[in-house]
Amino acid sequence: MTEKAQAELLEDVLSRYEDSPNPRLKEITEAAIRHLHAFVEEVGLQRDEWFAGIQFLTAVGQKCDDTRQEFILLSDTLGVSSLVEMITHGGTEGSTENTVLGPFYVPNSPHRAMGESMLVDPDDGDRVVIRGVITDTQGNPIEGATLDCWQNATAGFYAVQQPDGQSAENLRGIYTTGPDGRYEIRTVRPVPYPIPSDGPAGDLLKAHGRGWMRPGHTHMWVRADGYKDLITHVFDEETAYLREDAVFGVRDSLVRKFMPDEDGELAATFDIVLDRV
Ligand SMILES: [Fe+2]
Repeated sequence: MTEKAQAELLEDVLSRYEDSPNPRLKEITEAAIRHLHAFVEEVGLQRDEWFAGIQFLTAVGQKCDDTRQEFILLSDTLGVSSLVEMITHGGTEGSTENTVLGPFYVPNSPHRAMGESMLVDPDDGDRVVIRGVITDTQGNPIEGATLDCWQNATAGFYAVQQPDGQSAENLRGIYTTGPDGRYEIRTVRPVPYPIPSDGPAGDLLKAHGRGWMRPGHTHMWVRADGYKDLITHVFDEETAYLREDAVFGVRDSLVRKFMPDEDGELAATFDIVLDRV
């Protein structure tokens, strides 16, 4: 097939969407078609390779069930989820950066008093404190903001992954700020953990010699009336895999150092700035 014929093919395909009644769907579909054609041309995709790709995507779909979403995992490991988060959040300058939600969020965590530990079960990890102030972009403290936190235990797993091994409320908690906007969470020092690698998304990582570890982090979902939700992480500066996060969730502005505070507790300060709606 000549280059001219390939260009005519693309034009013909796109022309069939001319009268599409949904402008946004039209824009997305046409762009997907243009990029897919360009990709196939760029690599000179052969029929057997095209079929291997079809089989791969079929396997990704077949791996999905009520609790496993292999397409999200694939999107995460290709950096696409992270890119979508960057585009969707669109925070103003000075507001705290967001990052991926991840697959282990469970709604309705227990409400905890300020300073209370999220740790419910025995755990060998270092005890740490994460504290800071939640403000608007002008620096005014936000009262009544909720900080919904979750993280993995030192064994590497989130409570939701180990229904028989951890209490359901272990290392989960919702903290609500007072008039000063301050918050304080006690927890264990987060450790690196593997993303599920026993499916086609994991096979693709292995085929390229890539790892499937995430650096240690604590998740936060911050909500306050009149402000945009913020879904983010705090990363431990000393954790492994900080520069090779399997899902590209690390932002330099979210990395903090844990240091002994005046009471001798290992603490990190993470101030949070929210954008108005
Ligand atoms: Fe996580």
